[in-house]
Amino acid sequence: MVTIQDYFNSGIIDIALLLSLALNKSHAQLITHYDYQPNNEEKTQLNQLIKQRQSGTPFAYLSGTKGFYHLNFKVTPSTLIPRPETELLIDIVLDLFDENQTYEILDLGTGSGIIAVTISDKNPQWRLTATDFSMDALNIARQNAKTNINFQLGSWFKATPNQTFDLIISNPPYIKQGDPHLNDLGFEPQSALVSGKNGLDDIRTIIDNAPQHLNKKGYLLLEHGFDQQQEIMWLLSHDFFKIKKFKDYNQQNRAILAQIKES
Ligand SMILES: C[S@@+](CC[C@H](N)C(=O)[O-])C[C@H]1O[C@@H](n2cnc3c(N)ncnc32)[C@H](O)[C@@H]1O
Repeated sequence: MVTIQDYFNSGIIDIALLLSLALNKSHAQLITHYDYQPNNEEKTQLNQLIKQRQSGTPFAYLSGTKGFYHLNFKVTPSTLIPRPETELLIDIVLDLFDENQTYEILDLGTGSGIIAVTISDKNPQWRLTATDFSMDALNIARQNAKTNINFQLGSWFKATPNQTFDLIISNPPYIKQGDPHLNDLGFEPQSALVSGKNGLDDIRTIIDNAPQHLNKKGYLLLEHGFDQQQEIMWLLSHDFFKIKKFKDYNQQNRAILAQIKES
């Protein structure tokens, strides 16, 4: 007979999380019921989950959810799994704008919707638009929305013709083609991760086109790779000023905020 304690002692990767999922019990319930023997149905379910996890499927795709900031988000293999680094963008926006004013804010490449949904949940009076070129991702983002967000399908600014914003935010794909880190990210959509030879193709497109979609004194906020800051500063210097750089919680360069120059 196999008990919860036997599973805990097995050393299987993420076994506590997998037990929680298969038995639909909290961690506290598991550790206070160490002697419980999962029935056959529960064991079959658990063994399937263990196999998938051991073959590399990220836990978030097994549970179908991932926490980000103060909320829980539905995720599927069509969406990138939210990363804690991206919470930095939320902090920057909440610091930047006055909570009593109204702003038009665009989240380009919204994926599961984490940026737009979190900002809108914190400040429902700000008007959020969120885009993606993946219809599947946009459908998940729609399901994650808790407030009224304007979702639009299309490649970068083709999704927002003739619209202008006070702030454009993006966590675009920024990994180089062939980067060895991609070996560990094979379960996530490559179109959410990879951006040309030096990882900057999408960032360049966004920087080049953002000025036509920004209101006077508008801002552009980008997440980027730890080694891309210098090049992005240079790309921004033509149309933007008051450039501010930010490090993530691991002290890696991770985000850049810039204001459109006055014409
Ligand atoms: C790094 S993921 C970020 C997703 C989400 N914003 C987050 O922070 O978790 C990049 C997103 O950009 C989208 N994307 C990639 N190329 C795009 C394009 N040309 N136009 C619009 N969205 C694009 C991908 O589908 C993906 O959802």
